[in-house]
Amino acid sequence: MSALNFLISKTIMHVPGPVVSIFAKSYIAGQELSDAVRVTRDFNKQGIMTTIDLLGEFIKTKDQAKYFKERCIEILDTINKEKLDSNLSIKPTQMGLSLDEDFALENIREIVAHAASINNFVRVDMEDTPNTDKTLKLHAELKKEFGKSVGTVLQSYLRRTPSDIDNLDPKDLNIRLCKGIYNEPRELAYKDPYIVNQNFIHCLDKLFAKGAYVGIATHDEKLIFESLRLIEKYNLKREDYEFQMLLGVDEQLRKIIVDGGHRLRVYVPFGKDWLPYSKRRLKENPKIATHALRQMFGI
Ligand code: FDA
Repeated sequence: MSALNFLISKTIMHVPGPVVSIFAKSYIAGQELSDAVRVTRDFNKQGIMTTIDLLGEFIKTKDQAKYFKERCIEILDTINKEKLDSNLSIKPTQMGLSLDEDFALENIREIVAHAASINNFVRVDMEDTPNTDKTLKLHAELKKEFGKSVGTVLQSYLRRTPSDIDNLDPKDLNIRLCKGIYNEPRELAYKDPYIVNQNFIHCLDKLFAKGAYVGIATHDEKLIFESLRLIEKYNLKREDYEFQMLLGVDEQLRKIIVDGGHRLRVYVPFGKDWLPYSKRRLKENPKIATHALRQMFGI
C-alpha cells in the first residue's frame, strides 16, 4: 500500500462528507429510488440481476425504523411494477435491531411477508458482531415462516462462521458469503487476509455440501477461481448459485463472470444516508480516492 493509500485508509472516517461525496459517486446509484431503478434496468439489459439497498443503518428512533420499513415495501412494489430482475437487501439495524429485537423482527417480518406475497426475496445483511447472534436468530425465525423468500449473510473473517453454518437449517437455505467489512477485535475475527480467504473457501464448501444456494460476494479473483473449482466439484447448475459484486467495483471482472456463463447480481445502494457506506467502501479501497485525485489534478 502506498503512503497516500495508507493515509486515506487511516483517516477516511474523519474526512468531511462533502469531500467523501467526490469519491463516493461510483458506489451509489443516486439519492432517489428512480436512480436505483435506472441502474437496475441498465444491468438487467446486460443480463445482470441486482439487489437494491436503501442506505441507512444504526437508526436512533423507532419512527426512523418505521419510515425505512415503509420505504422498503415501496421498493419491493416498484421492482414488481417495473418488472425488474432485482430483490431487496436490508440492514437489521435500519429496522431497529439495536433498539429493540422484537420490534425489529416485526418490521422485517412485514417486509419479508410482502416480498413473499409478490414472489420476491429479502436479504438480511450482516452488520457488526454485537448484532450477529440477533441477526441469525431473526433469520431462523423468518425462515420457518417464509422459507425461500428470505436469506442472510455470513462473513468469513469471523472465527465462528463454520460453526454457524453447522447450526443452519438446510431447508431453502440462501446465504450470501462475503469476507466482512466491520472493524472487529482479533478474538472474534481473523486479521490475516490469507486466513480470511481460506475460511471463505472452507465456508463455501460447507454451504454447498449442505445444499445451500450461495451468493458468492467477492471481487477477489483468487476466491472466484477457488469458488469455480467448488462449483465443478459439486457439479452445480447455473441456477444453483450466483456471484455478487458491489456497484462501482471492477467492471472488467463483472464482464468476465457474465461471459463465463454465470449468474451475477450487483448490489445497488441508493438514498440520502450515503456517508457511512461510502466511507467503508473508501477505507476498503483507498486506491479509488487516489485515482479520483489523480484525475482531478491531472497527476
Ligand atoms: P478484497 O477486499 O480483497 O478486494 C479484492 C479486490 O477487489 C481488490 O484488490 C480491489 O481491486 C477490488 N475492490 C474491493 N473492494 C473495493 C472497493 N470498495 N472499491 C474498489 N475496488 C474494490 N460485508 C459485510 O460485512 N456484510 C454484508 O452484508 C456485506 N454485503 C455485501 C454484499 C455484496 C454484494 C458484496 C460484494 C460485498 C458485501 N460486503 C458485506 C462487503 C464484503 O464483506 C467485503 O468487505 C468486500 O466485498 C471486499 O472484499 P472482497 O471479497 O471483494 O476482497
